[in-house]
Amino acid sequence: HRTFRSVEDPFSLVADELSLIAKNLREQVAEEVQEKAPKLASAAKYFFERAEGKKFRPTVLLLMASALNMPIPQSTAEGVFDTLSEGLRARQQAVAKITEMIHVASLLHDDVLDDADKRRGIESLNLVMGNKLSVLAGDFLLSKACMALADLKNTEVVSLIAKVVENLVTGETMQMTSTSEQRRSMEYYLEKTYCKTASLISNSCKSVAILAGQTAEVAMLSYDYGRNLGLAYQLTDDILDFTGNKDVLGKGVLSDIRHGIVTAPILYAIEEFPQLGEIVDRGFDDPANVDLALEYLGKSRGIERARQLAEEHATRAKEAIEALPDSDDEDVLRSRSALIDLTDRAIRRTK
Ligand code: FPP
Ligand code: MG
Ligand code: MG
Repeated sequence: HRTFRSVEDPFSLVADELSLIAKNLREQVAEEVQEKAPKLASAAKYFFERAEGKKFRPTVLLLMASALNMPIPQSTAEGVFDTLSEGLRARQQAVAKITEMIHVASLLHDDVLDDADKRRGIESLNLVMGNKLSVLAGDFLLSKACMALADLKNTEVVSLIAKVVENLVTGETMQMTSTSEQRRSMEYYLEKTYCKTASLISNSCKSVAILAGQTAEVAMLSYDYGRNLGLAYQLTDDILDFTGNKDVLGKGVLSDIRHGIVTAPILYAIEEFPQLGEIVDRGFDDPANVDLALEYLGKSRGIERARQLAEEHATRAKEAIEALPDSDDEDVLRSRSALIDLTDRAIRRTK
């Protein structure tokens, strides 16, 4: 029946393990500062205690850990013998935990930058405790992630995750400071999207493979899966901002364009209607400009082409899993099906 469950819901395959990791995170995250700085402790724990989120990234990482649970070639096995004997699964769980901490840290900072009042269906931390504590809580979570990362004693993984943090900051800044030409560029948009969304999941997927002592080729496939899944997911997000239903989504629609953020559907529409580029340049402070842009978008193939691009990335993610070395282990195969299933869900979702 577990095979059936995995088809029904990839999340259920690792749900119990995820709950344990989440519990562990809640308990440990602010332990040491509880006495010295109780406000920092409660700020850092806020989302972990009150609104856990979908835990999309940790789910993918645990499934990837299982999907790669296969004998490794002798040559690479030698170097990681110690690693393997010291509880590989626990180390991969640590990557899931680190990834979630970095993700939440970036959201805390993001909500300050965006002056947000809601996150995960509850009041955002900046609204509850103010910008200053939110920034510090984000920094604190980031420092916790760094410590957990150091504990893994794997410099390659440290480099990959450090690069992720750089990418997050760069991506956010690219979005905030773009010139008019950059805002109209598909290449710039895709680079920004990689930095903001796909870098974290791709490099943490790769880290899971590296900790397992897998070959460079398998590590690359793991990275490719994460990268393409992340891009497919974000492209779908950007489409849903135009086509979604606010009650289903649980957040407002047309939020990107109203904030002057230009995404794939509009970029494709500009290719068909260059006049739209000028509207984009004028900005969207005036709601009439939003309406005009939507009119052009409706006449164009923008949404359709953005969907095609999302599908292409979903397909590439799926192909990365299919290219993994053969295995006849039932658990490995089930996890691979779940990862493939997630590529479909990433683009078919309505919320
Ligand atoms: C959500 O974007 C934000 C991100 C994916 C990354 C934000 C990164 C930073 C603020 C840099 C600092 C990073 C660290 C690690 C402390 P959004 O505003 O487009 O989406 P939303 O709807 O979730 O708010
Ligand atoms: Mg935001
Ligand atoms: Mg933002």
